[in-house]
Amino acid sequence: MEYRKDFPMLNQEGKNFVYLDNSATTLKPSCVIDEVTRYLSTCSVNVHRGDYDLSYQVSQEYEAVRNTVARFINAASPKEIVYTHGTTEALNIIAYGMGGFLKEGDVILTDIAEHASSVLPWFRVAKEKGASIEYIPLDEQGRITVENFQKAMHLGVKYVCIAHVGNVLGYTAPIQEITTIAHNYDALVIVDGAQAIPHRKVDVQALDCDFYTFSAHKMCGPTGVGVLYGKAKYLSQMEPLMLGGGSNARFDACSNVLLKEAPYRFESGTPAIEGVLGMGKAIEYLEKVGMDYIQAKEEKLHNLAIQELSKLDNVILYNPKSDNGIVTFNIKDVFAQDSASFLSTKGVYCRSGNHCAKILVDHLGTPATVRASFYFYNTEEDVMRLVEVCKEANQETCLNIFF
Ligand code: ALA
Repeated sequence: MEYRKDFPMLNQEGKNFVYLDNSATTLKPSCVIDEVTRYLSTCSVNVHRGDYDLSYQVSQEYEAVRNTVARFINAASPKEIVYTHGTTEALNIIAYGMGGFLKEGDVILTDIAEHASSVLPWFRVAKEKGASIEYIPLDEQGRITVENFQKAMHLGVKYVCIAHVGNVLGYTAPIQEITTIAHNYDALVIVDGAQAIPHRKVDVQALDCDFYTFSAHKMCGPTGVGVLYGKAKYLSQMEPLMLGGGSNARFDACSNVLLKEAPYRFESGTPAIEGVLGMGKAIEYLEKVGMDYIQAKEEKLHNLAIQELSKLDNVILYNPKSDNGIVTFNIKDVFAQDSASFLSTKGVYCRSGNHCAKILVDHLGTPATVRASFYFYNTEEDVMRLVEVCKEANQETCLNIFF
């Protein structure tokens, strides 16, 4: 309970909802809101462009967040931290930049549980380069296992693109083992960490992944800002997706362009300054709460939800053995969006649909599911309210809300 007081959205007079859509985005604590407000109301000037004290001060604060992010993920240097507008942009920058090195016949290895952002940029690059996409077979539960990954690897694979934690089933991929195997084949590993980093300690050097991406808004920070971590040796080789002010050292009338070093070569245009400052506060806040605490709390909530929902005959669970705070289910004989709308009428907010992982639906055997996703500010009471509302859910009650 102790952290709920930090979140104004959870303390609104007369509002009685249970927020279980944390995989889509998380709520924001006062310290993040205050930081964004401080920037907007006292120092909303541009960074790296102004020759006056205030611009210099804000630029310093903005750059200091790079150190905070580097510390948080244990990057070797803040120069390996590129600010982006979120995971999607980060993954597109990597696909564009590293895609340039692909040759006809090369292979990009991914899996069918991936979010659109992790595969669509590669579909495009593969088409342009004559490369192909292959999929690591999932086990019966929908997991990537080391054994299956090893079988799927071969010398044609240049890039392995996978999520650290899947956004539908919430399974953790064995990234460290995957990078060891991939590197033996000279393949690089690109990780979508959007669903992992808010919930556990991530050490990019221990994982030895080549790229790691995430969004601030899924970890108590503002929307519109995220991070691309890349090993310095790869960032320095990559062409930026976007060009413009801030990313170049000089250009001339003959179209000669000299780009800056990473990370600046990837940061064209005025950035989301309040977003970056807010992300810095969000990271400091999470560090204060403690990533171990967050992981343990979510595991407890997840286990309680699974224990109680498994007792209900009208509930189909798709990931009872998930190791994160994601519970994916359906109410028998009810379309997922109708179930979620019914839950909403009872004040329980979940996401439903295919969750942007459109190839996974065949594996699940259903076009859509309801997803309840927890964060450390959720409580056992929240879980029990979900369970109680699920008890009432059936074809009749779910469809009645529309009439
Ligand atoms: N990718 C986010 C989700 O899974 C938006 O809901």
